[in-house]
Amino acid sequence: MDGLRHGTQERNRPEQYDELADAWWDPRGPFAMLAWLAAHRATLVPPAPREGALLLDLACGGGLLAPHLRGYRHVGLDLSPTAVRVARAHGVTTVQGDVTRLPFADACADVVVAGEVLEHVAHPAVLLAEAVRVLRPGGTLVLDTIADTRLAKVVSITVAERLPGGPPRGLHDPALLVDRRALVRTCADLGVDLRLRGLRPSAGDYLRWLAGRRDGVRMVATPLTSVLFTGTGSKRAHG
Ligand SMILES: C[S@@+](CC[C@H](N)C(=O)[O-])C[C@H]1O[C@@H](n2cnc3c(N)ncnc32)[C@H](O)[C@@H]1O
Repeated sequence: MDGLRHGTQERNRPEQYDELADAWWDPRGPFAMLAWLAAHRATLVPPAPREGALLLDLACGGGLLAPHLRGYRHVGLDLSPTAVRVARAHGVTTVQGDVTRLPFADACADVVVAGEVLEHVAHPAVLLAEAVRVLRPGGTLVLDTIADTRLAKVVSITVAERLPGGPPRGLHDPALLVDRRALVRTCADLGVDLRLRGLRPSAGDYLRWLAGRRDGVRMVATPLTSVLFTGTGSKRAHG
């Protein structure tokens, strides 16, 4: 996936997730926005085609998607042993592993989800190839991530890391943000025509959340994909 660069070592430390293990499900903690994103991500997942259809949640973190899924067998994989433990405690069937080497069979999954992880790996094209390999033809790929733009660096890193509900300091490495064109091209080459849409928190909800009058914040779809964005697409039957 040309156009993506390797990360720097000062940010994006994998140990950060273990240090913050108690924060995954804290609605006012440093992962609060991940819970808002998970609720939105679930709206992009199609209804389960049958009871027990398989949804693979790559880099599942603490399993924040779990309460929003209906009819799926929710299997999550994450590198962080503590995240895997937390996700399991919330009903996710978990595997500790690397998103670039999935221990799953070809075409086994009805849905593959990759939420807020493309911007954390040095080789996102490998993650995508693995995600599409394990997806059945006709199955759905759902992802969300941060665009490689100057605006995103300011909004998602400089500003957001200082805001309540925003990511913890140092979570994101600007060198790993995702080139949208390269992403779409890579997915198309793999057999998934990805549709991108922008995403932002509802300003009104955020103010009410700050004032303690809401537990969470709704994420709102927007045409502007230059900061936070989602991607959805089906795997073509024939490549
Ligand atoms: C920002 S969190 C997102 C977690 C979850 N998808 C969510 O949205 O709540 C990024 C997650 O990616 C995981 N991660 C980072 N690199 C990974 C890799 N190579 N393989 C598996 N998990 C990875 C981290 O441990 C962390 O749980």
